[in-house]
Amino acid sequence: MSYLPLFIDTAGKKCLIIGGGKVACRKLIPILKSNMSVVMISPKIIDEIINNTKENKNFVHIIRKFEKNDISDQFLVVAATNDKNTNLQIAKLAKKNNILVNMAEDSLVGNTLIPSVVDRSPIKIAISSGAASPILTRLIKTKLETVIPYSFSKLAEIMMDYRNKVKKTFSRISDRRKFWEVFLDGPVSEMVLSGHIDKAKEAIEKSLEEGKILHKTGEVYLVGAGPGDPELLSFKALRLMQKADVVIYDRLVSEPIMNLIRQDAEKIYVGKQRADHTMPQENINQLLSRLAIEGKKVLRLKGGDPFIFGRGGEEIESLINDDIPFQIVPGITAASGCASYAGIPLTHRDHSQACIFVTGHLKDGTVNLNWKMLAHEKQTLIFYMGMHGSKIICEELIKNGLKKTTPAALIVKGTTINQEVLIGNLENMPEIIMNNKIVPPTLLIIGDVVKLHNKLKWFDPLSIKNKKNFNF
Ligand SMILES: C[S@@+](CC[C@H](N)C(=O)[O-])C[C@H]1O[C@@H](n2cnc3c(N)ncnc32)[C@H](O)[C@@H]1O
Repeated sequence: MSYLPLFIDTAGKKCLIIGGGKVACRKLIPILKSNMSVVMISPKIIDEIINNTKENKNFVHIIRKFEKNDISDQFLVVAATNDKNTNLQIAKLAKKNNILVNMAEDSLVGNTLIPSVVDRSPIKIAISSGAASPILTRLIKTKLETVIPYSFSKLAEIMMDYRNKVKKTFSRISDRRKFWEVFLDGPVSEMVLSGHIDKAKEAIEKSLEEGKILHKTGEVYLVGAGPGDPELLSFKALRLMQKADVVIYDRLVSEPIMNLIRQDAEKIYVGKQRADHTMPQENINQLLSRLAIEGKKVLRLKGGDPFIFGRGGEEIESLINDDIPFQIVPGITAASGCASYAGIPLTHRDHSQACIFVTGHLKDGTVNLNWKMLAHEKQTLIFYMGMHGSKIICEELIKNGLKKTTPAALIVKGTTINQEVLIGNLENMPEIIMNNKIVPPTLLIIGDVVKLHNKLKWFDPLSIKNKKNFNF
């Protein structure tokens, strides 16, 4: 058998589905989406079909068994009864009458395969394994779903809207191609993808009025890389990591995450280790603007989330002052990542009704915080950068009313293959920290929820480490 993948205008065309069970339902849903006029013949139909066809004018159910004459005038017939012989008869009859027929269970007996579809309408990607393996087809579909942003629909719509205008403005095909290449590669397409449709249209219209190719300006992507495990990156983060020309990154961005950046991108390390700011913040701000003004796509990659103890706000403020286009992609902050991977829920109906993210960064040898507000039962405190100030933190919390026995956990290199979880309480945690050789980053979690670690822990880096070919 050989198949030609073909997109056919199906609006209003007639489709007959014979059968009313799960398989018929699976076929029905994409067929209805293609605006065909569907008749389903079956003595009974399942609730899922009823729910999916409520108020759908393109769907009619005829309550009876299939009869030979039913196939006349049909564009497509789907044989999906629970009786193999009936399905075979239907397929034979349809083929004899040159009608397209899909055999739901035994696809090769029909003459038409209904593919799996990645739908970013008007863009549609149809996948078929030629009936070799529906599981493989599903796997490919899932992979494609993760790498093709939903907002590609909007991109295609805009390109459709301006197709004729661009054709009128640029008579040469090569100029038109250049126009759209710059559109797709530059900030205007990113405006569309990040929902700034009006701004994007304004830019397109301006360049068409001037009869020029879109201006290729640079832009900055402020992206949260999460706490370490590369699988915790968002789709959007990954897409922009593979698009950027230059990457400005911190110490906290793990190596496996760096490996996902476009190979030929320039990489600039700007440090941010405790007491070792390789590049002062002011210079980082200037560098971001300078590179973007040069026309580069600049990825500012930060550990965790850029807006949680990440100085993302300062960097964006500076970009706004310099009129540089940017977008922000949140990341999983250390608190969420470490807590999940350590089996310590940050809130719990029985133990904690609030959680507070606090900086434990030492300034002039002290931690200057509102201890009265922090020292309350039934809440969880999460100290970022708290290891060096842990003695002061624990002492102040006890002084201000928390019990010495309040549980505390130090999570070292959370979510990575080197994760360690040290458990203690407010009284002994500073000593535990002193007695262990700890390599940051670390996160300190204080509160009754820590008690749950023993029962809820699940992430076992040691067992993963022992497996070969592990790469994070
Ligand atoms: C400057 S803050 C940046 C926080 C980051 N923006 C975030 O949202 O996670 C750095 C601190 O985050 C914490 N941290 C970040 N990643 C961590 C990890 N994988 N394990 C433990 N702590 C982490 C540590 O307390 C570290 O000192």
